[in-house]
Amino acid sequence: MTRLTLLCTVRGCGEPLARETRQLVCPRRHAFDVARRGYINLLQPQDRRSRTPGDSKEAVAARRRFLDRGDSRHLVEKISSFVREGAVLDVGCGEGHYLAAFRRGGASEAHGVDISVAAIDLAARTHRDCHFVVANADRFLPYATGSFHTVTSITARFNAKEFRRTLHPDGRLVIAVAGPDDLIELREAILGEGTLADRTEAAIRALENEFRLQHQESIRTTARLDHQAIEDVMISSYRAMRTREREKLALLGEMDVTLSRDLLVFN
Ligand SMILES: C[S@@+](CC[C@H](N)C(=O)[O-])C[C@H]1O[C@@H](n2cnc3c(N)ncnc32)[C@H](O)[C@@H]1O
Ligand SMILES: [Zn+2]
Repeated sequence: MTRLTLLCTVRGCGEPLARETRQLVCPRRHAFDVARRGYINLLQPQDRRSRTPGDSKEAVAARRRFLDRGDSRHLVEKISSFVREGAVLDVGCGEGHYLAAFRRGGASEAHGVDISVAAIDLAARTHRDCHFVVANADRFLPYATGSFHTVTSITARFNAKEFRRTLHPDGRLVIAVAGPDDLIELREAILGEGTLADRTEAAIRALENEFRLQHQESIRTTARLDHQAIEDVMISSYRAMRTREREKLALLGEMDVTLSRDLLVFN
């Protein structure tokens, strides 16, 4: 069990949760079950817009298969190298591939939060040395103030105030956004799109009231992808593909594909 304190997500509460057999309970007796896989669902019904918010089971399984192939290894290793020793929180952690790499890389305690039960269930099943909760990171990160030495958000959410609150005073924020040429060959072939709009400026703007940019770099690699890998990376990246786009996807064979991230480090 974690050494960090989780906080109650009932609106207006925010009190620390304490473990009681198979539950976490706050002093006002709000209680949350610990799932069989060991994660805790702290998502309040009013904090979700659908019955199954966040990434679907299909998208999560596709991302897991794609990441397990290892084509993104270079990106994962590069991002991991910016994670400090001590406790790390990965916001929008998905099925936990990055978080597990941070733990292997030397983070003493690894925590992941995601709004998707399918993602967290798969994450907790596989990465037994990491801790996972289901919660809406846009509203509240259910961890005590100053808990983390690093907070990361890898192609995921920005919540500047909560990143700042949960970071230790000399903590570091590591953000990765899709680079403008990420999957460009597939986006051209399937979606008829070119270069992506630059997401770096938007990220810096979303965070500038709380954080100062320290370091910025582009990371990219080219991978030879077979049909299954192409399907997996597209399904995990684009939730709203139309029938015509799915048909084009079905026809693609092997291709060289660019994987790219813009990395931003703040303090
Ligand atoms: C593009 S995926 C990235 C997953 C992972 N970071 C990775 O790079 O493999 C974005 C993730 O954010 C999650 N997400 C979306 N809205 C969220 C929210 N409000 N709070 C927490 N997670 C959220 C989705 O369920 C999904 O797992
Ligand atoms: Zn409570």
